[in-house]
Amino acid sequence: MRNAWHWIAGVLLSGAYLLAAEPSAGEKLFKAYCWGCHHQTAEAFGPSFRSIANHRSREQIMAQIVDPESVSKTLGYRRNSMPAFNDLNATQIEALTDYILSFKDKK
Ligand code: HEC
Repeated sequence: MRNAWHWIAGVLLSGAYLLAAEPSAGEKLFKAYCWGCHHQTAEAFGPSFRSIANHRSREQIMAQIVDPESVSKTLGYRRNSMPAFNDLNATQIEALTDYILSFKDKK
């Protein structure tokens, strides 16, 4: 019996390890579409995801991804240099937004 529990615990632990090692959907999308201009914690051509997560709401982030031309103005930018990603579906936009918000500093 004891060995059976060890076996089950081992299977569960290695499953959790594999999940943690696999990049999230949001991280994959970030690497495919955003990384040239945004980095996770350092400013690049656009602001870092950490800075975005600390200053914006979920709604503002999602709106900027699909309509940066008008939304960037409401965020205080004078000019827009980010392309619209309106070919991404709702699930992909949510995954990206979750990924950005994961860089919010813990209080
Ligand atoms: C060609 C460069 C470029 C790419 C690619 C790009 N961005 Fe941006 N992004 C910018 C720039 C520059 C800004 C500053 C505002 C503007 O120009 O509209 C910005 C602003 C933002 C903002 C708002 C910043 C703020 O102050 O809150 C978010 C959110 C954002 N980007 C998310 C993304 C996501 C997610 C992707 C990938 C799907 C992406 N961006 C791809 C250049 C880019």
